[in-house]
Amino acid sequence: MISSVRGTHDIVPGEVGRWQALEAVAREVCRRYGYQEIRTPVLEREELFAKGTGESTDIVQKEMYSFTDKGGERVTMRPEATPSMVRAFVQHSLEQSMATAKLYSLGPMFRYERPQKGRYRQFHQLDVEAFGIAAPSLDAEVIEMAAEFVRALGIERTELLVNSVGCPACRPAFGAALLAALGDQIAELCADCQRRAQTNPLRIFDCKIPKDQPIIDGLPHSVDYLCAECREHFDAVQQALEAYGIDFRVSHRLVRGLDYYTRTTFEILGQGLGSQNAVLGGGRYDNLVKALGGPDRAGIGFAAGLERLVLAMPESAGAAAKVKAFVVSVGEEARLPAQVLARDLRHDGFSVLVDYDGRSLRSQMKRADRADASYVLIVGGDELERGEVTVKDMTTGQQSTVARTALVQRLKPVGDAAG
Ligand code: HAM
Repeated sequence: MISSVRGTHDIVPGEVGRWQALEAVAREVCRRYGYQEIRTPVLEREELFAKGTGESTDIVQKEMYSFTDKGGERVTMRPEATPSMVRAFVQHSLEQSMATAKLYSLGPMFRYERPQKGRYRQFHQLDVEAFGIAAPSLDAEVIEMAAEFVRALGIERTELLVNSVGCPACRPAFGAALLAALGDQIAELCADCQRRAQTNPLRIFDCKIPKDQPIIDGLPHSVDYLCAECREHFDAVQQALEAYGIDFRVSHRLVRGLDYYTRTTFEILGQGLGSQNAVLGGGRYDNLVKALGGPDRAGIGFAAGLERLVLAMPESAGAAAKVKAFVVSVGEEARLPAQVLARDLRHDGFSVLVDYDGRSLRSQMKRADRADASYVLIVGGDELERGEVTVKDMTTGQQSTVARTALVQRLKPVGDAAG
């Protein structure tokens, strides 16, 4: 047997109901907040992520699925959606056609990471991005929307972390302060951190190596190095969150593993997910649109990891819809009429299974039982002659004869328009 690629996974029929429920909530919440769907390709030019996600990130340094295609072009299977969304926003001049360019997308992402619970090489995200508005009231709205999305999925006991990573005006001073505070201790950090100290000292906060943590915990905080504008912006975001009545904690380590962030960053952590507990993360990126060749427009958004949300959703979410009826035929002459009955009921909107190969009544009833159908409809010679169907209600076990013309009415739930 050829099995699936390491770090990828099938979503089998027993699980797919939870995914569909999750996607339905995602679309509904996006609708309520004025976001429109966009679908961008999985394949993009490699340089989009090198420039967008950033050369100093772990993603670009070691996790991208990149290759040279048959035409000699370097392409990458997207590791995240934000650069693609920015590309599409610019390429299609979406700010001209949309009052506010608020976009969302659902789909697979690819990162060559070490697989573990909640971390995969092919995983799925809901990605939400808003362009052209620099005001802190949008930061608060986006964060509130993220919290509402998680709440609407029935996920309780989450923690919201926020931080500000400043802007190109104030960040260099913070980077210098980090290096000064580290001093000779840089030599004691892991090889990755030593590289980070050279390329982008903020990235040191991404380090998960236990022995590095005491040193990292003693480092200065970005919020203490914000310029006046960034400080004012961060204060306004926190005030708005308080007005919304949302609980949050300022986390100094929340620099996020991508290079494009300016000012606000945030994450929501779930419970019972082990070490991979961030169910979503995002932030503001006011220079990315321009850096990718577009106009000078602000941007902000977040992405939620659907695998982690599915793990955190309550047990009861997305139970599979029940099969309404299983049509059983008695005798060869009833086989085709049974198929036609199944066809008619399907056209009437019911979910219907039918026997195909003329097995014994007993084995057909067994299959109907396994299918967990609400009703078994028995079609035999007598029923055919009288224009009737025998209906067995599998919940009560009661059996009755119903005229074919009254069947649709009989199968409809009381007070419901469709099956
Ligand atoms: P990110 O923090 O890299 O941000 O990913 C967002 C979420 O995707 C994570 O919080 C996690 O739930 C999920 N995720 C990431 N990697 C994996 C993985 N290997 N397996 C399973 N789930 C994973 C971004 O991707 C940014 N584009 C977010 C953003 C949008 N910022 C602004 N706009």
